[in-house]
Amino acid sequence: MKQPITPTSVEKVMREDDFIVSKTDLKGRIVYGNRIFIEFSGYSEKELLGTQHNISRHPDMLRAVFKLLWDTIQDKRECNAYVKNMAKDGGFYWVFANITPSFDKDGNVIGFFSVRRKPKASAVKTVSDLYRSMLGAEQRAGARDAITASTSILTNLLAEKGLSYDELVLAI
Ligand SMILES: Cc1cc2nc3c(=O)[nH]c(=O)nc-3n(C[C@H](O)[C@H](O)[C@H](O)COP(=O)(O)O)c2cc1C
Repeated sequence: MKQPITPTSVEKVMREDDFIVSKTDLKGRIVYGNRIFIEFSGYSEKELLGTQHNISRHPDMLRAVFKLLWDTIQDKRECNAYVKNMAKDGGFYWVFANITPSFDKDGNVIGFFSVRRKPKASAVKTVSDLYRSMLGAEQRAGARDAITASTSILTNLLAEKGLSYDELVLAI
């Protein structure tokens, strides 16, 4: 059983040339993590392998973002997202993640692959303000309606700007 971790306000900032890489199976269990992932997550390779990727989940992150992520990659498309992750010690690190399905030679999805790089500080500011307002909506709506409530904030913002989520993420 995973012990609950208390989030702290200690941030670890990615370096310019860092890439945090991981691979999962179809169910989101980690099957590979590079050295930088091990460093930022604070877990050993042994602790990471075979574990659900929500081991990195920060409580400030939205259910709506992960729903969008899973819907996109299960539909065989790539997804770009800003994610606030939590390390084993409760500290956090922001990433700009690209997540893609991996295919076999017949075009079947056999797993997922994520490469994360350092996000722009200005984008982290924009996204954390947006996520904070969406998280408030999720908490007010309660578990059952959380995703619908926060998704409608995102949908309205995108409609206002005339952008898709991917376009927004790539534009900021
Ligand atoms: C390849 C891949 C990489 C992922 N990377 C992360 C990550 O870095 N941080 C994270 O919180 N979730 C990540 N996820 C999403 C998790 O699988 C999970 O959906 C999310 O943490 C929400 O967990 P929950 O549904 O238990 O709330 C990743 C999923 C895949 C397929």
